[in-house]
Amino acid sequence: MRRQAARGWLERWEAMQDRYVYQREPRFEAMGEILEAMGKGPRRILDLGCGPGSLSLRLLRRFPRARVVAVDQDPVLLQLGRSAWGDFGGRLQWVDEDLRRAPWGEGPLRGPFDAAVSTTALHWLSTRELRKVYAGVAHVLRRGGGLLNGDSMPFSPAAPTLDSRVRAWMHRLYRSDPTGTGGESWTGFWRAISRVEELNPELEERARRYPSRHSAENHLRPSEQVRLLRAAGFREAEVLWQAMSNRVLVALR
Ligand SMILES: C[S@@+](CC[C@H](N)C(=O)[O-])C[C@H]1O[C@@H](n2cnc3c(N)ncnc32)[C@H](O)[C@@H]1O
Repeated sequence: MRRQAARGWLERWEAMQDRYVYQREPRFEAMGEILEAMGKGPRRILDLGCGPGSLSLRLLRRFPRARVVAVDQDPVLLQLGRSAWGDFGGRLQWVDEDLRRAPWGEGPLRGPFDAAVSTTALHWLSTRELRKVYAGVAHVLRRGGGLLNGDSMPFSPAAPTLDSRVRAWMHRLYRSDPTGTGGESWTGFWRAISRVEELNPELEERARRYPSRHSAENHLRPSEQVRLLRAAGFREAEVLWQAMSNRVLVALR
């Protein structure tokens, strides 16, 4: 796909995701700030469930000396990212891999990484799968390195009313256009891109890999995530940024 066309699709992706993820752009910004707060600035970063590279790109621009290994198993999104940005001057490596079966420590997933990051992706994994992924990430992060997971995580059982009110409010928000970018729905985006003939091989492969709209989702609360992270070998974990139920959970190796 030509670069300009791919960039057009990426703009549509960003507008669509902005509509679903409350305060998405401030969350990206916060993740950059957290990485700065953690040290001199990461040199090797792993982006888990990178999609077309939204977070990878922002971090490459923010940290000019960083390199990113961007992992996803969606062939369409990987193709859009590759066509739009290439290898970003040799600093971005796209990896087609299922995180549930990833060969941690081998090939492009060979450590040590200074940071592992993820946005709106790890909730797609079941608890058992996430436990394995956290263990794999712990294996490839250097000591003192951090995992930053930006995702929606439910409130504690002690706040059921807040949980249901915020959930209902978020649901109404999806239906409006909170950032005014004219973003389409998830289904609308995929319906539109499925008509792009040159993406047929990737679309067919995507349909094979994602036969239903989504895989299992874990709905883990931060406290449950922290338990998994500690069991995987992380020393500390804390939510460092939050807007409603959208959070950035940070764990230190
Ligand atoms: C909603 S998108 C978010 C993409 C990007 N991080 C962003 O913030 O725009 C979720 C991504 O997670 C990826 N993903 C889900 N499960 C995965 C798995 N088991 N292995 C690799 N990628 C996965 C999906 O393919 C999808 O690209």
